[in-house]
Amino acid sequence: MKDLQRTLDQEIASTLEHIQQCDWNNKGFYADYMAQTFYYVRHSTRLLALAASRLNYEDEQSFHLRFIAHLREESNHEKLALNDLKYLGFKKEELPELPGTRLFYEPQYYKIEHEHPLAVMGYILFLEVLAQKVCPSLVENLARLYGNRCATFFHVHGEEDPAHVEAALSLLSNLKEEELESIRLNLIQSAFAYNSVLSALQSKWDSKLLKKAA
Ligand SMILES: [Fe+2]
Repeated sequence: MKDLQRTLDQEIASTLEHIQQCDWNNKGFYADYMAQTFYYVRHSTRLLALAASRLNYEDEQSFHLRFIAHLREESNHEKLALNDLKYLGFKKEELPELPGTRLFYEPQYYKIEHEHPLAVMGYILFLEVLAQKVCPSLVENLARLYGNRCATFFHVHGEEDPAHVEAALSLLSNLKEEELESIRLNLIQSAFAYNSVLSALQSKWDSKLLKKAA
């Protein structure tokens, strides 16, 4: 459990640094980030439903119930990203799904089906803790730049109750070492993939700016 907590802290710290380096003042970058968010967030309820169905009654019921509750909370969250996109003046068709975005969520289906349904907690923990840390400061900046109605996704996710993550971590503390390790490895892989999406967006929008300036 200590290893998982240490990995979580490290991956979140380096991702936060990366997020701070991104050019949120560039409207195209932010809109594309929201489009990519839409593409992966629409899988959240599907992933949670799939994982919930694979958890047994005997010793995984608490996770089963948590996943079902979480599934309800996540319902329609992809629409927040779409609305932000609309008010920024973009259509999702103009900002197609990047290969890196698929690399972020697609392995989760494999892990749930072929590794362990609880492996997906690595992906979930990464996203939940990241949202908690990044949303409050970013939402202020984005609302100032583009208006409140362009920052609803970050606004809603910044209001996440910190007790939520604490409860998830305390549930995890009852797991076997082997299960914790697959969660930890997924956390590292998910952080790597998420950071690759940020890098792809940075180079895409930096090169557009350079072309404009030329
Ligand atoms: Fe959400």
